[in-house]
Amino acid sequence: MKIGEVHDANRKIIGRTMLHFDAVESTNETAKELLESDVEEGLVVWADRQAAGRGRHGRAWASPLGGLYASFILRTKEAHAWLLGLLIGMPVVKALRHFGVFAGLKYPNDAVYQDRKIAGILSEGVYRHEVYHVIVGIGVNTNVDLDKLPADVQPKATTLKREVNLFVANEEFLDYLLNQIDDLYSRYRNTRIEFLLKDYRGQCTTIGKRVSATVGKEKLTGKAYDIATNGALVIIDDQGAKHDFFEGSLEILK
Ligand code: BTN
Repeated sequence: MKIGEVHDANRKIIGRTMLHFDAVESTNETAKELLESDVEEGLVVWADRQAAGRGRHGRAWASPLGGLYASFILRTKEAHAWLLGLLIGMPVVKALRHFGVFAGLKYPNDAVYQDRKIAGILSEGVYRHEVYHVIVGIGVNTNVDLDKLPADVQPKATTLKREVNLFVANEEFLDYLLNQIDDLYSRYRNTRIEFLLKDYRGQCTTIGKRVSATVGKEKLTGKAYDIATNGALVIIDDQGAKHDFFEGSLEILK
């Protein structure tokens, strides 16, 4: 059920209008449904909990009360959908640092603190009435106790509540986060994407690390070396061969 609607005329595109729900299946799905009506670019759907939150690779995203679950709508070139998904990791990490968790950015767009994931992003491209849209969904473990997350997730996850001894309301976190995303999106529209990708490359803590990546049935081990202009992670394997990695599982080795 919708429990609020917030307008912020100071924002450029992202978060000028935000619809607040108590519970939805998935904010990405609600945002997609809203595309049927003529909604503005930058519209945000925020929910206090999700009954069927979705993560990348078809995984579930546990969404208990206390966490932050929000999605927004972009209208952009289809060719930039993957790159934008990467870039939005930067404002998420910035917001976490602002509120006291010195998170890093693990390729492609996970926010990680001391090897434990604290936030994730699911961006999905969809056509509606022949117009391409990207729905970007962000989940942040803000005011969640670790034991509210599934048992298999707990050892690899953390929460803001666990790491910081200060209560941060989701509303405040989201307000700061949306300001940062709005600024990033404005840069995206006004500058060359290569410049933003350079920023991303500098912030991605995966670069320079030894990694093991699995794509389908193929597993490779080597060094994460660079971010290609198409947004792939360039891995040089132990035999010296170069690989472009996009999706699949990626483990940082010690
Ligand atoms: C990941 O696997 O790391 C991505 C997690 C994305 C979760 C968010 S929560 C808000 C939005 N709605 C969803 O169903 N998923 C995304």
